[in-house]
Amino acid sequence: MTNQPVAIVTGGGAGIGKACAARFAQEGWRVVVSDISREDGERACALIRENGGEAVFCRADVSRETDCAAFAQAALDAWGRIDALVANAGVQISGSLLDASESDWDKILGVNLRGVGYSCRAALPAMIAQHAGAIVIISSLNAAVGVAHMPIYDASKAGVLGLMRSLAIAYGKEGIRVNAVGPGATLSDFHLRRAAEGGMTADDLRAKTQGYGLLGRAAEPEEIAAVVYFLASKDASNVTGQFLLVDGGASLTVGK
Ligand SMILES: NC(=O)c1ccc[n+]([C@@H]2O[C@H](COP(=O)([O-])OP(=O)(O)OC[C@H]3O[C@@H](n4cnc5c(N)ncnc54)[C@H](O)[C@@H]3O)[C@@H](O)[C@H]2O)c1
Repeated sequence: MTNQPVAIVTGGGAGIGKACAARFAQEGWRVVVSDISREDGERACALIRENGGEAVFCRADVSRETDCAAFAQAALDAWGRIDALVANAGVQISGSLLDASESDWDKILGVNLRGVGYSCRAALPAMIAQHAGAIVIISSLNAAVGVAHMPIYDASKAGVLGLMRSLAIAYGKEGIRVNAVGPGATLSDFHLRRAAEGGMTADDLRAKTQGYGLLGRAAEPEEIAAVVYFLASKDASNVTGQFLLVDGGASLTVGK
């Protein structure tokens, strides 16, 4: 085993998580790709290996604490360390609060809030033992601005900011940095798959999102991954407890 850094990316089989896993691998990190979808996760790992990187897959549903413990153990078994966790896995269900069922609440909070907590819980002991580590939580622009028919999702994404700040305060002295990224509209697999169901191609979707934010377009997953990587890297060695929007200025469109 060498001291090559090791990252875990939850929800690393598709979309923003897949782009994060690929970026860490490009930068020479070893990556545990974790996802509830074995097929997508294995495929993301295969792609990293084809490009000369190192990746192992661990199937995990982040809403289950034992699954999160398993991806941390997979990193330790394979490479003996955990330098970064990207707590990215998330689900999106829209609908009004009046129509939300108990299972909607359980599903969204279970993955987006509790799941992020379980993921951090799983990675922290190794980071504490190393006296170093970086956690990047994927929140959302919605945590800052809110969207009419995503009340539970928005609450979950605001909730992780509280978690992020608490962990940053609690573990700063252990050399652990904890930050969050808030993507705006991003052309991830989630949106591409949903568009395809409606008969739209990726280019159709890009055309449809023209005019978004101040830059006039939605983000590509790689643009979110670049900021996530920055926050996990030594370049951000004095940054902790921060929420960084990567929304193409969408949060400022009120003044446009
Ligand atoms: N795409 C956007 O516009 C956007 C905007 C703001 C925030 N986000 C956030 O970014 C993150 C990634 O979203 P995306 O758009 O790339 O989605 P995506 O659907 O393209 O990818 C999400 C991945 O998470 C996995 N996943 C889902 N539930 C899981 C679970 N319980 N355990 C483990 N893995 C699970 C999926 O299998 C999938 O591989 C989410 O937290 C999402 O809320 C996305």
